[in-house]
Amino acid sequence: MKTQVAIIGAGPAGLLLGHLLKAEGIECVVLERQMGDYVLGRIRAGVLEQITVSLMERLGLDARMKAEGLPHGGFNLADGERLIRIDIEGLTGKQVMVYGQTEITRDLMEAAAPRGLEVIYGAEDVALHDIESDLPSVTYRKDGAEHRVEARFIAGCDGFHGPSRKAIPSSAAREFERVYPFGWLGILADVPPCNNELIYANHERGFALASMRSETRSRYYVDVPLTEKIEDWSDARVWDELAVRLGPEAAASITRGPALEKSIAPLRSYVFEPMRHGSLLLCGDSAHIVPPTGAKGLNLAASDVFYACEALTAYFRRADNDSVIGYSAKALARVWKSERFSWTLTKLMHRFPDDGPFERAMQVAELDYIASSVAAQTSIAENYVGLPV
Ligand code: APR
Ligand code: PHB
Repeated sequence: MKTQVAIIGAGPAGLLLGHLLKAEGIECVVLERQMGDYVLGRIRAGVLEQITVSLMERLGLDARMKAEGLPHGGFNLADGERLIRIDIEGLTGKQVMVYGQTEITRDLMEAAAPRGLEVIYGAEDVALHDIESDLPSVTYRKDGAEHRVEARFIAGCDGFHGPSRKAIPSSAAREFERVYPFGWLGILADVPPCNNELIYANHERGFALASMRSETRSRYYVDVPLTEKIEDWSDARVWDELAVRLGPEAAASITRGPALEKSIAPLRSYVFEPMRHGSLLLCGDSAHIVPPTGAKGLNLAASDVFYACEALTAYFRRADNDSVIGYSAKALARVWKSERFSWTLTKLMHRFPDDGPFERAMQVAELDYIASSVAAQTSIAENYVGLPV
């Protein structure tokens, strides 16, 4: 098979890029190792920046998001004693959209066939070839048969564990990493949220987050040491811990219910440079990971895909190779700012095992400064709502 862009991975990055390229009249095919139901079974964060919302609007795939998503004009930081509200709408004039990433993936997935976007699920042993040439290819196996896709470009949208990033020689690359000494234990339940806006709490027992998927479905997290086993966390234990860490006011409004999903996810900051090598462009988690504090993962994938689509469109329309060459620097400039924000918010809101009284005093001082400074709140608000693309 011959196409213009071979996309590896049908997560949000791959599907979004596929739809955007298709809308520009650029031929592409998406290769996904898993089956569609498996992809939809992954529960991820749920706060969309303007860039993500506007790409769904541009594709005309925003109807369900607009009907079911919850626009939020603010969120809260809790420091054990008070709620510090960050008025994102008042400070930036913009809102975020609370809508699960799983739902975004579903909307993109369901629109693929009607729009002629070819997505091949169950593609095994995907391998990249000749990425330093102008005619790279991807091979894969499906139902026992070998296949080859020849393309002008390959887009590596295959997440942190996919083969794309690994195809770039290490001599041409640089990796930056920070692994955190805790994970987030998440619980999803069909109960009304305890608050109409998100609450990120720094309590002496650790971090907690009260989030939501809708007015009847809640998503909560507590941080736990990486040695914890999910089997040791009964639903009751999770609810008890949330009630303590979120503070008495939120606790009074928590409705408990059975977990629809409960799991522990490690936290990591990671950046791979460059995001392009030869004819291969990396987008989303294949090139970078952020800790979930701030919910930047999907939104960064969306901005990468926006830049990648812009570069590939310039190439196919005007034979403009410079924009392809410039893709990595453009995407990375935004990636690093989101990395910085996610890391800062993680450091501010978690108790690190190695932290002593000095580090704790710094957290107290910073939260107190944020509570009293419109400038500090504005900085947080503009990062939370999403920096310009
Ligand atoms: N061959 C084909 N597909 C692969 C392979 C492979 N060898 N390895 C991984 N994939 C697929 C995965 O099965 C997955 O569907 O690539 C996709 C990558 O999707 P995500 O991990 O969701 O990554 P991305 O699309 O970059 O998502 C960006 O959205 O879902 C969130 O946590 C994610 O915040 C991140 C953001
Ligand atoms: C979520 O709703 O799952 C969520 C929200 C905000 C975050 C992380 C996760 O920062």
